[in-house]
Amino acid sequence: MSTAPQRLPDGPYDCVWASPGRVNLIGEHTDYNDGYVLPFALPHLTVAGARRLAAPEWRIASEQTGETVTFTADEKVEGWAAYAAGIVWALREAGHDVPGAELTVASDVPFGAGLSSSAALECAVMACLLDLAGADVPLADRPRLAQRAENAYVGAPTGIMDQSASTLCRAGHALFLDCRSLATEQVPFDLAAQGLAILVVDSKAPHEHVSGEYAARRRSCEQAAKILDVPALRDIGAGGLDAALARLDDEVMRRRVRHVVTEDQRVLDTVDALRAGDARAVGPLLTASHASMRDDYEITVPEVDTAVAAALAAGAHGARMTGGGFGGCVLALVDAERCAEVEAAVRGAFADAGFAPPDAFAVTPAEGTHRIGG
Ligand code: GLA
Repeated sequence: MSTAPQRLPDGPYDCVWASPGRVNLIGEHTDYNDGYVLPFALPHLTVAGARRLAAPEWRIASEQTGETVTFTADEKVEGWAAYAAGIVWALREAGHDVPGAELTVASDVPFGAGLSSSAALECAVMACLLDLAGADVPLADRPRLAQRAENAYVGAPTGIMDQSASTLCRAGHALFLDCRSLATEQVPFDLAAQGLAILVVDSKAPHEHVSGEYAARRRSCEQAAKILDVPALRDIGAGGLDAALARLDDEVMRRRVRHVVTEDQRVLDTVDALRAGDARAVGPLLTASHASMRDDYEITVPEVDTAVAAALAAGAHGARMTGGGFGGCVLALVDAERCAEVEAAVRGAFADAGFAPPDAFAVTPAEGTHRIGG
């Protein structure tokens, strides 16, 4: 699969910025529980070129859809362009004087696959608008602004992982993010040096009821934190899990809490393994994360369960669904020379199950938001 970003039409542009999609190595549905996540950036990019306009209006053209959407600060935009309009809104809300602009975007981040194509769009548009405005907003402050666009303007109650990954990730590293303090650590994740690769399988499973189920999971966690009298589930900690579960009557809520608390611990264990230079040790943690998402958080679907089982049977060190769930992608940690074999096994399992053929590609951790021209 090509990872060359789709090309923008010839400029001139005042600036051109690129922001990547992401995969989350581990730490799922922990971000909105003030917990830990460990994503890395994909080589797949959304590229945005911007030209300043004299009038206070914004025009955004998509190379993918061929559409151009024009809006002013007073208009509520729907559809894909809402992610760009949300950024204009969030920057203005934060007191920035956002110049009018004509934006053109092109992307090779797979859409609707749980690889954060929306965060890539938000972050690339934000970088362009801040560049045009000459505003010196530190990188570390940008994910909150983009998350606000998504939560308050687009209306999706997501956490801060995706925008953080798209903005802050570094090539060759995974981003260890504490979603409460927003402290970050760039953890070296050089798979090739250890003869390993990450294979990403896009299950192509249709995302159904994603937003409703996501919001329901989040609500359940917030209710549990209230009952347990902690600011967020992160405060339970692995050592406090049994006592916390004993205080909850609702069996479903107990399972949700168990996922979040054990998943936070798996992120910490993964970071320890990577710091020790032992990427292979991450395999069982990935597989345990998948079981927890399947059995306790109940966010997997047959396609992703099939991909994980087939990858493991074909010799992957570990595999898990990545992203919000109900479809999307699986990542498998494999010996580099077995990548093709594992991919073939997953394809075979999909064919046997009567599922549509998946996409699959090997990835290495790439660079977060960066300026590429103008
Ligand atoms: C989506 C959300 C993130 C995070 C993940 C699950 O990608 O946008 O904030 O909650 O799901 O880990």
